[in-house]
Amino acid sequence: MKRSPLLILGALILPLLAPGQSKPPLTPQAQRGQALFQKSPKGVACGTCHTLKGIGVAVGPDLTKLASAATPRGLVMAIEMTMTAYVQQVKTTKNEFPGIQKQKVGDTLEIWDLSKLPPTLRTFSSSEILSMRGNEKWVHPPAAAHYDRQELADIIGFLKFSSNGGQKEVTAAELGK
Ligand code: HEC
Repeated sequence: MKRSPLLILGALILPLLAPGQSKPPLTPQAQRGQALFQKSPKGVACGTCHTLKGIGVAVGPDLTKLASAATPRGLVMAIEMTMTAYVQQVKTTKNEFPGIQKQKVGDTLEIWDLSKLPPTLRTFSSSEILSMRGNEKWVHPPAAAHYDRQELADIIGFLKFSSNGGQKEVTAAELGK
């Protein structure tokens, strides 16, 4: 008997619509980390500026690769960093602000304004941008948020789980210091 093309299409598409179903559930640590990532009692939640597992807003860099490759200690250093690699001091014909470019299409630049919380997306034509250079003043919010070691371990547990499925408990001792 011939199968209906609709059924075949359904069988192909359904797994795409429900990709989470075959994955293991979050570990207790990843659950705690996800809660902090999404809504933090200290400072600005990570999800205000990063996206993972479909939550959050992609203002800052995608964390998937780094979270998958770096050691927990390396991740703490990145989270508590005070130097920036992507954030620029943007000078426009109107004002100056720390920003990170989202995209440039033709003559139009979209730049996240990090002087606002949550950051706001602003649009400029390239003639309005006077300069964009290395930023020395903007500080990654979690560097000043004073997360304790266990909270950082939980956040990193969530980063690991989301990036490479890591299920191993990240301990506070692994973070050093
Ligand atoms: C206000 C926005 C904002 C918040 C809140 C925020 N970040 Fe970031 N994050 C950024 C930006 C922008 C960068 C890029 C900084 C630079 O120029 O190097 C970054 C960089 C990083 C990096 C390094 C990425 C790389 O590829 O170098 C990590 C890891 C990271 N953030 C994790 C976190 C975690 C975890 C939290 C929550 C505890 C958090 N961030 C909260 C905006 C934010």
